Amino acid sequence: MSLLDAYEKTKQELNVTPEKLTEITDHFVSELNKGLSKTGGNIPMIPGWVMDYPTGQETGDYLAIDLGGTNLRVVKVSLLGDSKFTYEAEKYPIPVPMRTGKSEDLWNFIADSLDTFVKKHYGSRGSSMAKLPLGFTFSYPASQDAINEGVLQRWTKGFDIDGVEGENVVPLLQDAINVRNTPVEVVSLINDTTGTLVASKYCDPETIMGLIFGTGCNGAYYDVCKDIPKLEGRLPDDLLKENSPMAINCEYGAFDNEWAVLPRTKYDIQIDQESPRPGQQYYEKMIAGYYLGEVLRLILLDYYSQDLIFKDQNIKPLQVPFAMDTSFPSRIEQHSAPFVEGLFLDSFNIKTTEEERNIIHDLCLLIGTRSARLSVCGIAAICKKRNYKAGHCASDGSVFNKYPHFKERAHEALNDIFQWNCDPKDYPITLIHAEDGSGVGAAVIACLTEKRLLANKSVGTIESKL
Ligand code: GLC
Repeated sequence: MSLLDAYEKTKQELNVTPEKLTEITDHFVSELNKGLSKTGGNIPMIPGWVMDYPTGQETGDYLAIDLGGTNLRVVKVSLLGDSKFTYEAEKYPIPVPMRTGKSEDLWNFIADSLDTFVKKHYGSRGSSMAKLPLGFTFSYPASQDAINEGVLQRWTKGFDIDGVEGENVVPLLQDAINVRNTPVEVVSLINDTTGTLVASKYCDPETIMGLIFGTGCNGAYYDVCKDIPKLEGRLPDDLLKENSPMAINCEYGAFDNEWAVLPRTKYDIQIDQESPRPGQQYYEKMIAGYYLGEVLRLILLDYYSQDLIFKDQNIKPLQVPFAMDTSFPSRIEQHSAPFVEGLFLDSFNIKTTEEERNIIHDLCLLIGTRSARLSVCGIAAICKKRNYKAGHCASDGSVFNKYPHFKERAHEALNDIFQWNCDPKDYPITLIHAEDGSGVGAAVIACLTEKRLLANKSVGTIESKL
């Protein structure tokens, strides 16, 4: 077999046909429903305890932190009403060993960063002032019986810290904050997708869902309380009477963990088996930023083992797991084939031929296209489930923002599923760039929660303490 033959085979394997997209979407709809049922399913479908649509008139000053996959962000947000806001944010990179380190190190790191931020942005007023309300964006599956708690179901995106799964993370963070006497109180815990949904709806009423295509992938949308069978018997009367909406954090990175429809390749299987949590997040492991560079690396190692590429070269640096993050395939696609030469020499001391460079470039195109096409199955499934015929899908995350052509490819795949067959600029359902979910979204949610509490409305199940 030649390198070109091997590439053609990979091309077939990574191709997702319109028929396959439709098959996946239909299965996805039934899995979303299963997740809301009393027995539950693979997709957690977590009620996020946001039971109002923002009007755009919310006001107030809030703090927010976002523990994502790569960075910790601390944000000071002022909601000004009229869909307007201002904010100041700082990023603190999460040290890589911390992803698999000790629980207390993580909470200390967050509390220290927060303390630094408060001192910098509030100065000496810090310790004497009333406690600042903080929205905590915790972008992992966390079960919630109320807005101010979150019990981590399991780590995702390569995190693996002992002693946190099964725990309510809010007191873990609050204790670390209290030790430092930082004047901050955690008032709400939200997922990044829920934040994205609410922040975008604060600014754009046509928003129908909030989506993250970043280190991980996930979506949130508004359902209706009475249509959530697993909450039956647990909902306070006011929510039922008012026919309240309820934001749902789908956690659909876990879609198809029993592998019924996804066109997984041997590379996807290997990524899963070598991950800290095999058998979980099958969908996410095929499309999210944490894994796209790894897919490319495994394909290249496979070709190398068949003596088809990098012949007679020492490729040790490339044999290190996750040696290429998603910026590799994304930059290669952006800069075209000749860029591969310098990149592989500088990063791995590997020389490439022109044919190799072309094939590596084309592989990046295939990996990105597969990611975008599979990504829209979650969107299409939510639209089918809620019968949305038009609207804006507020999207954020490094893959959406940086992987070339993601949006166009996603739109094309949506058209494959819904068969609009009109000019792309007239597609009724579109992906648009989201407002800052972890900052603005967390602030709007904190504000909506305060309002509910003042009005004596429920913000959790009947068993919750709020
Ligand atoms: C992972 C997390 C989820 C998050 C998503 C995007 O799927 O489990 O909570 O929303 O990544 O960051």
